[in-house]
Amino acid sequence: MKQIILTGDRPTGRLHVGHYVGSLKERVKLQNSKRFDEIYIMIADAQALTDNAEHPEKVRQNIMQVALDYLACGIDPEKSTIFVQSMVPELTELTFYYMNLVTVSRVQRNPTVKAEIQQRNFEASIPVGFFCYPISQAADITAFRATAVPVGEDQLPMLEQCKEIVHKFNTVYGETLTEPEIILPENAACLRLPGIDGKAKMSKSLGNCIYLSDEPETIKKKIMSMFTDPNHLRIEDPGKVEGNPVFIYLDAFCRPEHFTEFWSDYSCLDELKDHYRRGGLGDVKVKRFLNDVMQAELQPIRERRKMWEQRLPELYELLEEGCKVARKKAAETLQEVRHSMKIDYFEDRNLLK
Ligand code: TRP
Repeated sequence: MKQIILTGDRPTGRLHVGHYVGSLKERVKLQNSKRFDEIYIMIADAQALTDNAEHPEKVRQNIMQVALDYLACGIDPEKSTIFVQSMVPELTELTFYYMNLVTVSRVQRNPTVKAEIQQRNFEASIPVGFFCYPISQAADITAFRATAVPVGEDQLPMLEQCKEIVHKFNTVYGETLTEPEIILPENAACLRLPGIDGKAKMSKSLGNCIYLSDEPETIKKKIMSMFTDPNHLRIEDPGKVEGNPVFIYLDAFCRPEHFTEFWSDYSCLDELKDHYRRGGLGDVKVKRFLNDVMQAELQPIRERRKMWEQRLPELYELLEEGCKVARKKAAETLQEVRHSMKIDYFEDRNLLK
C-alpha cells in the first residue's frame, strides 16, 4: 500500500513555535525520511471559514503567510504538494456524503469541538458549518488516501472521528476508504507548548505566541518576559521545573550540543534542572540560555522565510500547481466513492437495465 501523508493548518494567522514543535518539525522529518510516496500539506481555508465566515479577508491574507511558514520550516515543494483546501471542491462533496454517516450526538461528544465551542462562546449559536468540520476533516484525510496524519495532539479526536467514518463507510458501501494513523511528536514537551504567559496553549487570540517570523529582538523580549515558577522569588529559593514554561521550552528545544555551545557550566538539561531545583540559579540566566537555544533554532527558519518572501510569484505558482495535483487525487477518490455508493449513474448504462 502506498504511504501517504495529508495534514494541514487553518490560515488564521502566522504559524508559531507551538505549531513548529507540535507538528511542523515532525512533518519535515517525515518528508525527508523517504518513507512516503506522496505528501500533501493543505492550507485549510474552508475550515478556517467555519468560524470566520465574517472575516474572509483575514483568511485570504494568511494563505501566503502560512505557505511561507511551511517553506521556512523546510517543507520542500519538490517532495511535498502544498495546496489550498477550497480549491479542491471534491472535498466538499465528500463531506456531504459523509454527513449521513455521523450522528449529531457523536459530533457533540467530540472533545475538540466541545472545547472550541466554549472558547468561541458559540454555545447558543453554533454555525452548522463549524459543527460539521470534523466531518469535513475526514473528507480531507480520506480524499488523499492518507495513511499518516502528522498533527498536534489537539487533533486526536478528529482522527478518531475520521477512523469511525472510514469504518462506517466501508461497512455500508464496501471496502473503499483508507484508515489513517495519527503521528504525534515523541517528545512530551512538544505535544502542547504553553504560551509565554504560562497559559496551557499558545494562541494568537491570547497574544502569548512566539512566531516563526519574529525578529531576533522580539523573540528575546518575549523570552525574557516569560512566566516561570511564581514561588521562585529570590535566586537562593528552590525552583520548580514542572509546569514552568521556561523549562518546558527547554525540554522542547534544547539539545546537549547547546550546552557545549552556549553554557558549558552544565553538560545536560538534567544537570541544569537539578541546580534550579536546589536553588541558587536565577531565572534570568536560564532565560538567556533559552534565548540562545531558540535563536539558534529559529534563525535558519527566519532566513529561509525571508528568501521566499523575495520569491512570492514563484510561491504563488507553486500553490496553484499544488492545487491542480491535489484536485486530481481527490477526484479519483471521489469517483471511487460514488461508485461504491452506486451513485455513478452515467459511468455505465446500468440505469437502462
Ligand atoms: N484542524 C486543523 C487545524 O485546526 C486543520 C486541518 C483541516 C487538518 N483538515 C485537516 C489537519 C486534515 C490534518 C488533516 O489546524
